[in-house]
Amino acid sequence: MRTLIVYYTRTGTTRKLANALAAELRADVEEIRCDRYRPGGLRYLRAGYDSLQGNMPPIEMSQKPLTEYDLVLIGAPVWTSYPAIPIRAFLGTAPDLPARIAVFLTHGGHSPPEKAVEMMASLMPRQIEAALTLSNEDVNGDALPGATRTFAEGLISRD
Ligand SMILES: Cc1cc2nc3c(=O)[nH]c(=O)nc-3n(C[C@H](O)[C@H](O)[C@H](O)COP(=O)(O)O)c2cc1C
Repeated sequence: MRTLIVYYTRTGTTRKLANALAAELRADVEEIRCDRYRPGGLRYLRAGYDSLQGNMPPIEMSQKPLTEYDLVLIGAPVWTSYPAIPIRAFLGTAPDLPARIAVFLTHGGHSPPEKAVEMMASLMPRQIEAALTLSNEDVNGDALPGATRTFAEGLISRD
């Protein structure tokens, strides 16, 4: 099973989860970069504003051929209850995704992540196979290895 993980992170939490999943799934990893919201200053306010307004920012990523993979995992932080706007910008480019798609989201624990999962699913060309949501606390605590292993095993067993 050839697996690719595509993710956006602003402050590193989603990268940590992406790398943990990549280790379990022996996946390639691709980070979407977006300079507009880089940490520092008051740029998080802009992130929140753009997320609410649906203002799509410019993004950068190297062009890995997505259809060469059997499974793609797409990950992002939750912003204002939605998937962070750079990942929505990526999905807005109508990327040519393979048959199997799964998603993962990190969040601050101050709003239920279901709405973000629903939006992520609605932006995909076909039904998603699985979704993992973890809080900052989970990603940076003892829950990470167990959660990533269980999620990865579920994906591998459906192969
Ligand atoms: C603009 C903005 C909006 C956010 N909105 C939410 C939210 O609605 N609910 C929530 O639980 N966390 C929210 N968070 C917290 C992030 O989802 C959380 O810290 C996430 O793990 C950060 O991921 P990252 O380190 O990969 O950027 C928000 C963070 C930012 C910067």
